[in-house]
Amino acid sequence: MSEHEDAQQLSTEWSRSMGLRLPVVNAPMGGVAGGRLAAAVTAAGGLGMIGMGSAGSAPALETQLPYLDGVDGPFGIGVVDWVVRERPELLEMAIAARPRLLSVSFGTDTAWVARVREAGIVTATQVYDAEDARRAQDAGIEVLVARGEEGGGHGAAGMNMLPLLDAVLKVAEVPVLAAGGLAEPADLELVLAAGASGAWLGTRLAACTESLLSDAGRAALVAAHGTDTVVTEVFDVGLELPWPAKFPARVLRNEFTGRWVGHEAELAADASAHAALSAAAAADDLRVAPVDAGLGVGAVTAVRPVGEVLRELCAGALHLRNEGHH
Ligand SMILES: Cc1cc2nc3c(=O)[nH]c(=O)nc-3n(C[C@H](O)[C@H](O)[C@H](O)COP(=O)(O)O)c2cc1C
Repeated sequence: MSEHEDAQQLSTEWSRSMGLRLPVVNAPMGGVAGGRLAAAVTAAGGLGMIGMGSAGSAPALETQLPYLDGVDGPFGIGVVDWVVRERPELLEMAIAARPRLLSVSFGTDTAWVARVREAGIVTATQVYDAEDARRAQDAGIEVLVARGEEGGGHGAAGMNMLPLLDAVLKVAEVPVLAAGGLAEPADLELVLAAGASGAWLGTRLAACTESLLSDAGRAALVAAHGTDTVVTEVFDVGLELPWPAKFPARVLRNEFTGRWVGHEAELAADASAHAALSAAAAADDLRVAPVDAGLGVGAVTAVRPVGEVLRELCAGALHLRNEGHH
C-alpha cells in the first residue's frame, strides 16, 4: 500500500466532509502562515490556512491569497477578533475570498458568525474551557478548536490540551479539533483516539520551508528546546498591542523576557523600552523581538518542506494506531 493511501486511513468524518485527505489543519499563524504555507498544507491533503495576526490587514491578506490560486483542495483563513474590529475590511476581504473555513479567535463578539455562515463558509474558533465551548457552540460556531496551554502564540492559560479536549468533547455537539503542543506522531494518534476530528498544528509547522518566517526565526525554532518557552504578555505590553489580558502568548525566552517578565507595570510605563522593542522587531533582532512557540518546539529540528513533515506525522500516527491493534 502506498504511503498516500496509508495516511488517508487516518481521516475522520469531519476531514472527509471538508474534502481533506488528512485530518490536519495548519494553525492560522500571523506572520508565519502565509499563502505559500497554506497552499503546501492543502496540497499535502490537510487544510491550509492563512493567518492574519495583530499586523493583519486587507492589503496583507490580498498579497497572500494568490498563492492559493489553482491549488487543488480547500483552504481556510484565520483572523483575530480585536484586529477585525479595528479593521473591518479585513473580515470583508476574508469572506470575499471564499475560504472553506474561517476562524475568528480571541473575542466574545459573535456577530460575525451569522454573516460568515450565510456566505457558506464553515465557522471556527479557539476555546479554552467547557464554558467557552458552550458559548461558541450556542453562537452557532461549527468547529471548536480546543487549544491547550502548551500551545504557541496567544491563548488563555489554564488547561492542558488533553483534559481540555476531554472537557470540550463532553459538551460539544459539533466537531472538535485539538491544538496545543501537538508535534509528534504519538500526539496526533492520541488526540484522534480521544475523539478529536483533527489536529490544528502551529509550532510544528512554523519553521517549514514555506512559512513567512525569516531565516533567523526558523533558526531560533530549530535551536530551541521544549523548556525554552514562557507564557507572558510582555511583548504585547511593550508593543502596545490591545490583546485582552486573558490571552498572554507562549514565546521563546530571550533577553527581553528575561528583563521584563514579572515587571509588566514598569514596562508599561517605559517608553524607551517600547521604542527599543519596536526597533528590534523591525530589525528582526530575536534577542529582543518575540518568536511565538509552543512546548512542541523541541520536535522542530530542521527546516523542511511542510508536505514532508505532514506525511511523516500522519504515517507515524497511523503506524502507532495499527500497532496498538495487535
Ligand atoms: C507563530 C504563531 C503565530 C500564531 N498566530 C495566531 C494568529 O494569528 N491567530 C490565531 O488564531 N492563532 C495564532 N496562533 C495560535 C495557534 O492558532 C494555535 O493555538 C497554536 O499554534 C497551537 O499550539 P502549537 O503552536 O503548540 O501547535 C499562533 C501560533 C504561533 C506558534
